[in-house]
Amino acid sequence: MKLVNMRRTGKAFCFWRTLKVAALLLLLIFVVIPIRNTVLYFALPRLWMGLSSPFLIKIMTHNQYFPVEEIPLGKSPAPIEVDLMELQQERFQLKAYPTFHTKAKALKEKADRGDAVARKDLEELMRFKPQMSDEDRAVFLYTLKVFSQACKAANLTWFLISGSALGAVRHHGMIPWDDDVDIVMNGSEWITIRNTLGNVKGFDLFTPSYNQWKFYMHDLPEGNRPFKWPNLDIFFFAEDDTYIWATTWGAKGSLANKKADVFPLTTKKFEIFDLPVARFCKSVVTAEYGDYHSGCKTAEYVHKTNEKYGVSSLVSIDCKKLHEVYPFVFYATASDGAIVEQLQINGKTV
Ligand SMILES: *[C@@H]1O[C@H](CO)[C@@H](O)[C@H](O)[C@H]1NC(C)=O
Ligand SMILES: *[C@@H]1O[C@H](CO)[C@@H](O)[C@H](O)[C@H]1NC(C)=O
Repeated sequence: MKLVNMRRTGKAFCFWRTLKVAALLLLLIFVVIPIRNTVLYFALPRLWMGLSSPFLIKIMTHNQYFPVEEIPLGKSPAPIEVDLMELQQERFQLKAYPTFHTKAKALKEKADRGDAVARKDLEELMRFKPQMSDEDRAVFLYTLKVFSQACKAANLTWFLISGSALGAVRHHGMIPWDDDVDIVMNGSEWITIRNTLGNVKGFDLFTPSYNQWKFYMHDLPEGNRPFKWPNLDIFFFAEDDTYIWATTWGAKGSLANKKADVFPLTTKKFEIFDLPVARFCKSVVTAEYGDYHSGCKTAEYVHKTNEKYGVSSLVSIDCKKLHEVYPFVFYATASDGAIVEQLQINGKTV
């Protein structure tokens, strides 16, 4: 009997000691940021590495919830006129990335003649092929135009984040092999946002309580989802005196910044528009992506088909390999010493 009891006490003692060690380790991980970042290296988005643990817990537990079911859609505070015929204008009908297709065709001809190097190059290039057809792209740009116009009329704050902010900085437009736009808006204004965007003639707004919203043209083919594509992804932010962060899950790793780095917003060239981005857009993008000028990564997600690529199928290559086929922003020093941005394809300014 006695022996058993003693063994039990011994086991209990060991249990408490293990618990204490575990608690101490957790405390260390929580308090000492370099330890936390090393231990959780593969779990934490890059942007989060610079943030304190209490703040991280705050943003992880502060999630979007809008009682959309309970509040009926109201009237738009600033209705806009939409003329869908505008979509036929030349500026929406521009051919997308002809340089890519020329290069791909040339490589294919060589590969068909048995050139193994060309075949390998072609394979790599196709991992970065444009996801959108010319028609998709026209619809998409037009949707962006209408969205921007509606937000302007209603004085709604919005800006590009994530891959779209990276696109604005690196390509003055979309990432050519990506297929969506990521936008963030003020969560406190969700009712006005819904009343504004939910009342645009010819367009629909998909408004789940917990996830990002989608804005898209009504007259598109039905897919297998409750919304259509091409669409704009609308995430939401919250703020305190110092910080701004995303409350929508999909954007938490893309927006958790000092407000002073974001506001007042500025604009960047984005395709045929100038669109709002964070004030220090380049450093915000670097905090999320690292050295985005050297590393060009394939998309994780194809919105057109709703496919998510596994981590194993993601590819990252030296962006130089794509300079020949896609527009990239280069920096030059003007005669007065100012740094100017130039968009170039294969060394030629476009
Ligand atoms: C937007 O702001 C302008 C200028 O402050 C104001 O005149 C206009 O009434 C506002 N519009 C709406 C819909 O609030
Ligand atoms: C977000 O909306 C709230 C409520 O209208 C407003 O007080 C706040 O200033 C807005 N924040 C930003 C960054 O525009």
